[in-house]
Amino acid sequence: MTTAVPAPAHDAAAVLLEAHQLAPQVIAWRRALHQRPEVAFHEHETARFIQQVLEQIGNLEISRPTATSVMARLRSGRPGPVLAVRADIDALPIHEENDIEYRSQTDGAMHACGHDGHTAIALGLVTLLARHRELLRGEVRFLFQHAEELSPGGAEEMVRQGVMDGVDQVIGLHVWSAMPVGRIGLIAGPAMAAPDTFECTIIGKGGHAAIPHGTVDPIAIGAQVVSALQHVVARTVDPLDPVVVSVTQFIAGTAFNVIPNTAYLAGTIRTFDPALRATVPATMERIIAGITSAFGATYTFHVEPGYRPVVNDPALTAKLTEIVTRTFGADTLIDMRPTMGGEDFSAFQQRAPGVFAFIGAGNVEAGIDFPHHHPRFQIDERSLDTGLQYLTAATLHLLGAV
Ligand code: NI
Repeated sequence: MTTAVPAPAHDAAAVLLEAHQLAPQVIAWRRALHQRPEVAFHEHETARFIQQVLEQIGNLEISRPTATSVMARLRSGRPGPVLAVRADIDALPIHEENDIEYRSQTDGAMHACGHDGHTAIALGLVTLLARHRELLRGEVRFLFQHAEELSPGGAEEMVRQGVMDGVDQVIGLHVWSAMPVGRIGLIAGPAMAAPDTFECTIIGKGGHAAIPHGTVDPIAIGAQVVSALQHVVARTVDPLDPVVVSVTQFIAGTAFNVIPNTAYLAGTIRTFDPALRATVPATMERIIAGITSAFGATYTFHVEPGYRPVVNDPALTAKLTEIVTRTFGADTLIDMRPTMGGEDFSAFQQRAPGVFAFIGAGNVEAGIDFPHHHPRFQIDERSLDTGLQYLTAATLHLLGAV
């Protein structure tokens, strides 16, 4: 069927039913990917797998913006906007502890964040939309993005390769084990934080543990630094502004009777507000400088900027909220709060209004409630159906054909 006139709305319902029928295929793709996880910047097999599926679908312009990313352009042949749909494809350096038939076949690598699901959902969407080009106008551009899990991230690289040139809107999603399966979370405005990292070395003066007065003990000083850093959030930031400062590494010493020369501290700083993102490290350094100098030590302090915060376009979020409500019912939407996690989807949002959605994938009764990045992380695979339904409805409506 080819027609230039807008297709009637019942076609959208038919395509959504077809999306549902595609669920077994999407699950099969996800399990195939799950068994062969590849970590950030090493997704060679994964990219080949994606490219093969896309080639079988046919009638797409397929390219490889970087060594391990894949782009597919589906042109409707009718003028209209360009909608980018992003799926991240990388796994994590975690050894899987799930006892499932499709568990990771690679020691020390695991799809522990659900990116295998994102990839499978996007492949399902390409399959459907390629069959129903007549319902679309403009172009759907699929971005299979490598290296979401490792700063500086793959998104920035893809943007530099021009994948966002001419794109009017960008959408993406994340399966979410903390949210019940079947539900969808859409947050207008700031949704995910900027995840910056810091490193601090306290330089004291080592010596015999029995002669502490002859040393400058970096462990005792470091303990005070860790305690005092809690004041950054508790006493220097407006309680209504979300900020996290977590010390996650404290490495020092080699023996019970030796005071070491140095102590190494590292951790993460999470912010939404650009002004706070700039001032929190300065406050931290002031505290570190004060405590170390008070006890005769010195320090080094370095902050490595991570991804920008994910900020969802309010107008596009409102539109997607309406689409979800109209298509699946208001009950599908969950009142979700922003998360202090980070995501390099934000790199695409620098180039076009974008919305990053959360797709419920948890199921407490079935024991599927481990957090992301846990060796026993799992998703309820019905979330793949929800994700595909959501993207299908969004695409059909945003490209204005229904
Ligand atoms: Ni993730």
